[in-house]
Amino acid sequence: MKTSILSPGRDENAVQTAAALLKQGEVVGMPTETVYGLAANALDGRAVAKIFRAKGRPQDNPLIVHIADFDQIFDLCPAVPPQAAALAAAFWPGPLTMIVPKGDRIPQEVSCGLDTVGIRLPAHPLARALIRAAGVPLAAPSANTSGRPSTTTAEHVLRDMDGKIAAILDGGACGVGVESTVVSLAGDTPRLLRPGGVTLEQLRAVLGTVEVDRALYETIGADVQVSAPGMKYRHYAPKAPVTVVRGDPQRTAAYIRAHIGSATGVLCFDEYRDWFPTCTVACLGAQDDLAAQARVVFDRLRAFDETSVAQIWAQCPPDEGLGLAVANRIKKAAGFRIIEV
Ligand code: TXA
Ligand code: MG
Repeated sequence: MKTSILSPGRDENAVQTAAALLKQGEVVGMPTETVYGLAANALDGRAVAKIFRAKGRPQDNPLIVHIADFDQIFDLCPAVPPQAAALAAAFWPGPLTMIVPKGDRIPQEVSCGLDTVGIRLPAHPLARALIRAAGVPLAAPSANTSGRPSTTTAEHVLRDMDGKIAAILDGGACGVGVESTVVSLAGDTPRLLRPGGVTLEQLRAVLGTVEVDRALYETIGADVQVSAPGMKYRHYAPKAPVTVVRGDPQRTAAYIRAHIGSATGVLCFDEYRDWFPTCTVACLGAQDDLAAQARVVFDRLRAFDETSVAQIWAQCPPDEGLGLAVANRIKKAAGFRIIEV
């Protein structure tokens, strides 16, 4: 299959062409404000199955359904939980996914046997234009090969998906850079399943109590029943093994400098770019600029695969605000190999 790049800047029919492919049951790379998604008609199980094949995604990992208007949630969910309206008023359109009870229209291919479904109303204008033009909600996981870092540019998507999907709608670089926050409203107390563009502090300001799933802090074995099935798989990982060094940035930089060997890659804050002259260095952004770190973290992790580094040392922000999401992606890339200094 030839994967075409549809660029709204060069082709005024780009969105319509992508929508036509979606209506035919094809898979299209879709820009969102968080990361690129691999979109298909969420109501068509055969189209959704193609997403799993293109990604090499495990069959028990359900997909998020993207809508363009809040009222579409009532078509997909029989009993919308009371907190959903308040969350939508605060954070939609935007980087938040709500897990809610699923209705009959959601095919098994989307929900993978669960009785819930994740719903998100993205902020990216091209994503919403595409959902509206397709006339159906769109199921879309992140547009990376399963296990690799997520994609934040059309070039990243092409690298993983060339020949595997019909087209990529090019919306430039994603503004947030890490995936949406996933919060479950299916239990008694709201539960954070994945930190993302909306922070835990922001969620608590709207919901009061929010529990935090233990998958945020540890690797979950493949045999364990988890609330977000995606959390148990190896994730975001470059080919070379990653070790995270946590603590005061001066100390972590000094620790890394004392431990570098041959063919070492270092992911560090901008302030330390000159500390590792013999290494392949990738800069994560200034140490206090969490938004910049979120925007580039996947690009930097992916870039190591274009080099011949044999191991990677990484600095990482503290678990506060957007730092919780950035640190989670780096820790998962490291398989939770973490040294505290
Ligand atoms: O920002 C995002 O959320 C991006 C863009 C494309 O919208 N999408 C994305 O999808 O990150 P994905 O499939 O890569 O991650 C979705 C996560 C997975 O960890 C999955 O297990 C979890 O959400 N999830 C999906 N449906 C669920 C459900 N019904 N119950 C619990 N977890 C669910
Ligand atoms: Mg993903």
